[in-house]
Amino acid sequence: MLKIFKDLNEISRYAARAFVDIANQSINMRGQFRTALSGGSTPMRLYEMLGIEFPNAVDWTYVHFFWGDERCVPEDDRDNTYGQVKRALFDKINMPAGNIHRIQTDLAPADAAIDYGHTLMQFADPPLTWPRFDLVLLGLGEDGHTASLFPGSPVEVDSPTLVVTAEYMGRPANRVTLTQQVFNSAKNVFFLVSGKSKSTALFNTLKGGYAPQKNPAQRIDPQDGELTWLVDEEAASLLQNPRIRKG
Ligand code: 6PG
Repeated sequence: MLKIFKDLNEISRYAARAFVDIANQSINMRGQFRTALSGGSTPMRLYEMLGIEFPNAVDWTYVHFFWGDERCVPEDDRDNTYGQVKRALFDKINMPAGNIHRIQTDLAPADAAIDYGHTLMQFADPPLTWPRFDLVLLGLGEDGHTASLFPGSPVEVDSPTLVVTAEYMGRPANRVTLTQQVFNSAKNVFFLVSGKSKSTALFNTLKGGYAPQKNPAQRIDPQDGELTWLVDEEAASLLQNPRIRKG
C-alpha cells in the first residue's frame, strides 16, 4: 500500500498513530509488541512525537524495541542509532531498560552480529530463529538502500544478521543489519520516505524493473504481512509525474 502525505510531519503523525494502534492490538492479543526501528533522519520526528504526544498511549512495559540495523560507533556518538532513539524517545517515556535490545557497538562488528543473533533467538517464533516482528520501520537511501542492505551488498545469506561495510553520505561505514528474511517475516513493515532527494530511488524501487542488487529496498516484500509506503509529495513527485524524470 502507498500513502502519500503533504510532508514529513504528516507522515510522522500517521505513523505515530499506526504505531500506537499496532502496539495496543499486539499487546491485547499476545501480551507483547515487538518492533524493529530504523535510524537516519526521517523517523526522528516520529520518535519525538511518540514521546511528546503519545507517552501514555501505550503500556511501554509490554513493548520490546529492536533495531533493523546499527552503525558501529559508540553509544554516545551522534551517529549511533540507538543513541538517536534514546534521546528522541526513551528519555521521555517510562521504558524498562530490559526491553531495549540494542546492537552492541562496543563489540567488534562480527561479534556484535553474532551477539544480536543470540538476542533475536531469545524472542524467536519457531521455526524461525528470530521474532516475527509486529512492526518494522525502514527508511530509503538516495542510492536505494534500506536498513544496511546496500547496492551490491552480499545479502543472500541464511543468517538473520549480517556485517556490512558501506559508504553513504559520510555516515559510519561499519554496520550490522538484519537480513531480508527477517524483514520479510514481519507482520507490518512501514517505509518512511521524505524529500525530493529520494524521488529517484523511490521511483526505481516501486516502478523500476526488479533489480534488487541495484535497488535493495525491492527485496522487502513480507510473505504474510503488510507492506506500507508512507511517503511525502516531494518523494512521490516522480511517481505522480514520471515525465519530469526524463526532462
Ligand atoms: C541508517 C539506516 C538507513 C536509513 C537511510 C535513510 O543509516 O540508520 O540504516 O537505511 O534509513 O539511509 O536515511 P535518512 O532517513 O537519513 O534519509
